[in-house]
Amino acid sequence: MKPQLIEQFIALLGQSGVVTDAEARQAYCSDWLGKWQGATPVVLRPANTEQVSAAVRLCHTHNLPIVPQGGNTGMSGGAIPDTSGAQVVLSLERMKRIRAVDPINDTITVDAGVLLAQVQEAARDVDRLFPLSLGAEGSCTIGGNLATNAGGTAVLRYGNMRSLALGLEVVLVDGRIWDGLRGLRKDNTGFDLRDLFIGSEGSLGIITGAVLKLYPQQLGRCAAWVGSQTPEQLTALLAHLRSACGERLVAFEMLSDACLQLVLKHVDGAVAPLSSQTAYHALIELSDTRLADLAALLTESLGQGLEAGWIDDAVVASNETQAMQFWRLREGISQAQVRAGKAVKHDIALPISRLAAFISEADTLLGKQFPALQLLNFGHLGDGNLHYNVLLPWDVSAEDYHRYTAELNRAVHDLVMQHNGSISAEHGVGQLRRDEVRHYKSPVEMELMLSIKQALDPNQLLNPGKVL
Ligand code: FAD
Ligand code: MLT
Ligand code: ZN
Repeated sequence: MKPQLIEQFIALLGQSGVVTDAEARQAYCSDWLGKWQGATPVVLRPANTEQVSAAVRLCHTHNLPIVPQGGNTGMSGGAIPDTSGAQVVLSLERMKRIRAVDPINDTITVDAGVLLAQVQEAARDVDRLFPLSLGAEGSCTIGGNLATNAGGTAVLRYGNMRSLALGLEVVLVDGRIWDGLRGLRKDNTGFDLRDLFIGSEGSLGIITGAVLKLYPQQLGRCAAWVGSQTPEQLTALLAHLRSACGERLVAFEMLSDACLQLVLKHVDGAVAPLSSQTAYHALIELSDTRLADLAALLTESLGQGLEAGWIDDAVVASNETQAMQFWRLREGISQAQVRAGKAVKHDIALPISRLAAFISEADTLLGKQFPALQLLNFGHLGDGNLHYNVLLPWDVSAEDYHRYTAELNRAVHDLVMQHNGSISAEHGVGQLRRDEVRHYKSPVEMELMLSIKQALDPNQLLNPGKVL
């Protein structure tokens, strides 16, 4: 990049807003999984919306492609530039302002670079709850959560990021600012632009601010760990708990025993909650705005599950520390996978009523086609979202990894489509699933998506090579 252009960026953003040092730039060019490695001529770090707008306008004038980046915790390589060295990384990491908290409207307005955990904390400070919750919450940003339409472990009760956002502020490719920061629960004045940008992974605009919904603080919380033999039994238990516990049911997370064993081996201090041997486990959580006796309700409901034969064993956490130990096991799966080998990850959604049939068919198919590989099946059962992953050994060659990925994707994703599911539930498309999406979407869907892209980013400057 020409030194004069760098000088212009520095004039707009200040010295601390422009990273030119080669080593420092590289930190923005690879992901935490070590899967993608790119290059960038410069990293831009604007401190506010006006600076984002000015920097994007300059990029537009010089036809420079832009890769927006939040906390860089994404799973699909969406925030990593390609290897051409031509794509500018625009990091929102300096935009950390909580702009307003309105406990009467139950909303919080924040900069896109605010960490998810900081929003949760700001909500707690006014006796409210911001319910999005996921393993990377200490490092991922609200902008990234919106751009990927993140899910996590409380979607069952509160919905995904799309349902938690009321308004957005977005910088368009030519630098114009769309101010849609309205905290309205009803607004039917035409097309829903907000929903267009949510889940678009930086390919339609750069999200700079958001109005998010708040909920009442939950004073009571109770978690349980159960052991079961089949996913079918667990989906029956889920349906029972939905009726028995109503909207107190916040989370219903499933993991196969292979996942639990991996966590026990690779995560310090992990201890199995039950001594019985079962093929599957689930972590269940209830919460309430009052200090209600949730333990009694959960114990009674799980007792009915035992009687019905859906579960073999269960333990209700006797205190918050034990509940946190359960959650550490569940949240530890990502880390354990990274330590154990190279995973071919799937992030699929299915109607809950089809989950058990899918798992049984997929296990049989993969068992025949890839008998030597280890299946790691876990996920947000309550949302019909599975991470149906396959673990390859550490020393697998790059060539074999690519071959296995292609073959496994085809086997798993074909089956997902037969069950009327989706091949990307919460991690987005990025570069990981771009070709898979193209393979499965109908021509009409692809044409609609391409027309929207053409209308908002005719020169393909926003996150090129991602999503589409
Ligand atoms: P990045 O990784 O920086 O970016 C992700 C995408 O969004 C990229 O395409 C990027 O270009 C775009 N983007 C980022 N910021 C903006 C912006 N301001 N405007 C426009 N585009 C932007 N995800 C889940 O959904 N559920 C989980 O349960 C879950 N668990 C996880 C557990 C762990 C341990 C880890 C490491 C990750 C997990 N994730 C999960 C994935 C990840 O945390 C989420 O996708 C998160 O929403 C990404 O936020 P980020 O700020 O890190 O975004
Ligand atoms: C999770 O649910 O833990 C993550 O979304 C999945 C993963 O780490 O593969
Ligand atoms: Zn997940």
